[in-house]
Amino acid sequence: MKYSNIATEPPGPEAQRIIQVLKKNCYDSTFTYPLVIADGSGCTVRDVDGNAFLDFTSNIGACPLGYSHPDVMDVLAQYAKNGAHKIAGQDFYCKEHAELSEQLVSVLPDNFKTFFINSGAEAVENAVKLAYRKRMSEGFPVLPGVSCIGAFHGRTLGALTFTLSKPVQKAGFPELPVLRIKFCTDDNDPDIDAIERLLGQNKAALILTEIIQGEGGYNVASRQFIKNLRKSADVHGIPLILDEVQSGMGRTGKWWAFEHYDVKPDIMTTAKALQVGATAYRQDYDPGQQGVLSSTWGGGSRIDLAMGARIIQVIKRDNLLSNASKIGGLLKKGLSELLGGKGGVIDVRGIGLMIGLEFDTKANRDLALQQLFKKGLLLLPAGQKSMRVIPPLVISEEEVGEGLEMMSALLH
Ligand SMILES: Cc1ncc(COP(=O)(O)O)c(C=O)c1O
Repeated sequence: MKYSNIATEPPGPEAQRIIQVLKKNCYDSTFTYPLVIADGSGCTVRDVDGNAFLDFTSNIGACPLGYSHPDVMDVLAQYAKNGAHKIAGQDFYCKEHAELSEQLVSVLPDNFKTFFINSGAEAVENAVKLAYRKRMSEGFPVLPGVSCIGAFHGRTLGALTFTLSKPVQKAGFPELPVLRIKFCTDDNDPDIDAIERLLGQNKAALILTEIIQGEGGYNVASRQFIKNLRKSADVHGIPLILDEVQSGMGRTGKWWAFEHYDVKPDIMTTAKALQVGATAYRQDYDPGQQGVLSSTWGGGSRIDLAMGARIIQVIKRDNLLSNASKIGGLLKKGLSELLGGKGGVIDVRGIGLMIGLEFDTKANRDLALQQLFKKGLLLLPAGQKSMRVIPPLVISEEEVGEGLEMMSALLH
């Protein structure tokens, strides 16, 4: 069985029409190629002209069960006749809010609470606010936060402060006070303990980092680097915020990427695969007063909340963490065979089903993305010259095999 099938060279006529409307009426954001999604099943996405693409993106991890998964369809069917599908969920209660909180708490570190919000960026905003709030209660003035070079934490102004991935994302926008350190990917990096040097000379409010930089290029943190952040945060009494918006929810073969490093955050974020944004925090970071955090839709997008809860249940029930580790291993091995080939692949890195492929030049990366799209394989860029390979957690060996064949024909 073949999972991809290009019937009409994309963009076909209907895709062209829709893209023209979008270009006329909307800001032209981060579109990589002219894919107009209509539907999907399994790990295959269909466009509006009837082409079928094998999906190695999961919509940046937001579709961990792929498309038309029976559990996803079941949740959708339950709400087909419910006319109160979206409520002001921080002002009124609903059972979906309670059920997602139970599911999420069951996979969080002990004694963590949750706050649900719309997006990953807002999950980061609220994490930062909780850190400042606690520091304020301890008598500290507004101090700088520490984040990493190459980080991506979102595009709202607070989160954007701590983002330093591509200049275009930052240009001209104001920032909160911030200090930056190198994101070390090698235990032997001379800057591995830069955090301790920095905190020896400066007071700080918080440390915020990803474990695997996503948008920044799929850079995997060194073990010692993360351990040093945890240690310095403890020594100086500073909260460590780990951003699991992209790497969380089983993507790396564990619920959270930090579990591969034997550390725990004080505050963390997740979103994407959860369907809603979430800030999660140890109970002592709770503001202990109503009204400090809220929003209209946080906790009230009932279909998304129900879907998030079901996704966690399915990941547990179907052992998708093991699938991510097992299939991730096969995928990484297959991708490693592209190293040094005609496509210009120079590095393959990642954990589980969160794999980055670095090219020698941006031009070669961009060319490969476009050519693979035309052949029926969806991938997305990351950083200056890398590509992210993040298929749904349900992907099978056969599907991975077909994708690898397409990549090999072009890049080996
Ligand atoms: C690590 C990380 N944090 C935050 C965000 C922002 O999430 P959102 O786009 O949902 O605002 C992203 C998005 O890619 C991310 O990868």
